[in-house]
Amino acid sequence: SAQPLRMIVDAEAGETTINKHIYGHFAEHLGRGVYDGLWRETDDGWEINDDVVEALRQIQIPNLRWPGGCFADYYFWEDGIGPVEDRPTVVNNLWGGVTEDNGVGIHEFMELVDRLDTEPIVVGNVGSGTVRQMADWWQYVNHPGPSPMADLRAENGRAEPWNIRFWGVGNESWGCGGNMDAAYYADLYKRYATFLHGYGNVRPFRIAAGPAGDDYDWTETLMREAGGMIDGIDVHHYTINGDWTTSKGPAVGFTEAEWFELMQRALQTDDIIRGHSAIMDRYDPQNRVWLIMGEWGTWHNPYPGSNPGFLYQQNTLRDAIVAAASLNIFNQHARRVKMANIAQTVNVLQAMILTEGDQMILTPTYHVFDFYKAHQDATLLPMQIDRGTYTFEGQSIPAVSASASRDAEGRVHVTLANMHPRDGFDIQASIRGLGDRSVSGQILTADAWDAHNTFEAPETLVPMDFDGARLDGETLSIDLPAKSVVALTLE
Ligand code: AHR
Repeated sequence: SAQPLRMIVDAEAGETTINKHIYGHFAEHLGRGVYDGLWRETDDGWEINDDVVEALRQIQIPNLRWPGGCFADYYFWEDGIGPVEDRPTVVNNLWGGVTEDNGVGIHEFMELVDRLDTEPIVVGNVGSGTVRQMADWWQYVNHPGPSPMADLRAENGRAEPWNIRFWGVGNESWGCGGNMDAAYYADLYKRYATFLHGYGNVRPFRIAAGPAGDDYDWTETLMREAGGMIDGIDVHHYTINGDWTTSKGPAVGFTEAEWFELMQRALQTDDIIRGHSAIMDRYDPQNRVWLIMGEWGTWHNPYPGSNPGFLYQQNTLRDAIVAAASLNIFNQHARRVKMANIAQTVNVLQAMILTEGDQMILTPTYHVFDFYKAHQDATLLPMQIDRGTYTFEGQSIPAVSASASRDAEGRVHVTLANMHPRDGFDIQASIRGLGDRSVSGQILTADAWDAHNTFEAPETLVPMDFDGARLDGETLSIDLPAKSVVALTLE
């Protein structure tokens, strides 16, 4: 029988808004993410994939980060404007060594942003580009004109500025973005950021390349040396098996040891956020600077037979549970964490969507984002919860992760993930201040812990109506199955 767990949520309290940007996305020129993913090739060149757009609009993505990733510090924006046939090619040295035709540049990206009804995050090139190139790009996208770059933009068919405020100053500058140390990058950051000026109504929201995982020294140095000029710090933390030098383990057909380790790693995100937040709280007690989880998600061995540089992987129920638990962690830290970007939206790493020719499948992770969109810009509700235990070979982790919010219409949303592959939990929740309501919900689960969708069987793992929740006054009983993600609405 399921273990009983207690949960208390105060539906009338809460001071922190869950910034919608926590549900953000990322599209790098990498593998089939941009070319042959968000865009498809036609006889007339690259065109935006309408099916992908329609699916992404359904989950209401609040932002899209582009063009990288590591690619950002290789990218010369001037090569991606003007007539497509006149653009030079570019070798994507890091990701598979393929040659791209620069068919997707800033104009095409902003067309996609418009179609998705989302907000752009552009990452500028610090690693191999000049201060002038970055300042010119900023002027190109934001200056109302007349100015050299606004005039050039108009010549290329866009008179109005785009008003892009989120601006990354380099990416992973400790690694692929230039292998710098923290103090050197902090100096460079200040230099590049100095030349991003407010134009028209747009003030730059300047995002510094943040640390990898638990590199607290990077955050300390950045905050100390450049904190006054930083609006957001872009922390990258992936959920992997093993370490970066060993096999990361398969995406499908894994062992329980691999399942357990991945869950344990996902939960470490909480410690990492606490560590960086504590440093930021010291330098920024006003809580002005955003902690951005600018790249997160599972990273497995590449799909068998695929180009390893393309980072294409399958996506199972296990990935969905990692996503759900990670998003619960971000929600719980919403005071400091104001943005996050899952890596990456289409065909790369923990993708929402996989495509093959004209076919498209929605991954289990897509459905988690669909469940969780209700939290966007809602008020985080204080919660106490017994989380149960999942023990494997002598090690234990909390099994259940949860978060709750109240939206602008007063509806209460509770999201839960159960990392235990065999045990369900019987949650007895007291939701204070609820009044007369009813509960409805959806669940994502399957018999197989690596259940996933394929082009042959695209609906193997899809959400189902959840009938395991009962509301009696302010008492909510939830019969939470093993290895599941559940989203409830109390209205
Ligand atoms: O998302 C894939 C890569 O992971 C990104 O390009 C880089 O920033 C990170 O190392």
